[in-house]
Amino acid sequence: MPTLLVTGANRGLGLEFASQYSADGWTVIGTAREPDKATELGALDNCATMQLDVADADSVDSFMNALGDRPLDLFISNAGTYGSREVDRGDWRKTLEVNTIAPTMLALRLKPNVMASERKKMAVLTSKMGSMTDNGSGGAIIYRSSKAAVNAAWKSLAIDFEDDGIAVVMLHPGWVQTDMGGPNALIDTKTSVSGMREVIGDLDLNSSGRFLAYDSAEIGW
Ligand SMILES: NC(=O)c1ccc[n+]([C@@H]2O[C@H](COP(=O)([O-])OP(=O)(O)OC[C@H]3O[C@@H](n4cnc5c(N)ncnc54)[C@H](OP(=O)(O)O)[C@@H]3O)[C@@H](O)[C@H]2O)c1
Repeated sequence: MPTLLVTGANRGLGLEFASQYSADGWTVIGTAREPDKATELGALDNCATMQLDVADADSVDSFMNALGDRPLDLFISNAGTYGSREVDRGDWRKTLEVNTIAPTMLALRLKPNVMASERKKMAVLTSKMGSMTDNGSGGAIIYRSSKAAVNAAWKSLAIDFEDDGIAVVMLHPGWVQTDMGGPNALIDTKTSVSGMREVIGDLDLNSSGRFLAYDSAEIGW
């Protein structure tokens, strides 16, 4: 059975990814900053919980050591943060660390694991809010810039990884009812993740490097 690694899998979209792939019989590795508290994740079939704070270099090193050379058919970089609405220097840096630097550094470090698998796919949860074409309302400078930057980085990864046979996609999950999306969001996690799983299922080297919504719509950069 194929293996999925998904970060931030203790709640929200990450938990739903873990749940749906587990239900399909995949082997799932879900990461959480506090594994002891990730009870819903721990209760899933074929699912191992591993500790990972993506913004903590020591945690990333320990995680990589524990993972070893296990092949990963699919790496989903899901963990993310909204950051503050006010433009605060320290918070901007922290948000860039979680939303931009960590997903990209992890992808680079996980490349051998993904190359060793059969399916060889990577996906990052970014956001339409990182689209400059779509930005008609301004604001959210910290979040928008962190997602625009991760798009730029992962577009390069898509090109750089092509010769290694790894296909890469940048995903907008929609506006989803999670702690981040809030109760007024338009869709639930099941709808969002089912759609993104279809996009990931269709992903191959020919479609690598695109910025796609959960309903397969292409998003302008
Ligand atoms: N919901 C939406 O409407 C929406 C829209 C567009 C894009 N997205 C993106 O989709 C992804 C998932 O969002 P969500 O709505 O599921 O958010 P969420 O409910 O707030 O969950 C965020 C997840 O990220 C984890 N996380 C945060 N900082 C971390 C760190 N330093 N290291 C490891 N894990 C960390 C959280 O872990 P803890 O529980 O330990 O905090 C949690 O598991 C994010 O990248 C988000 O930007 C969401």
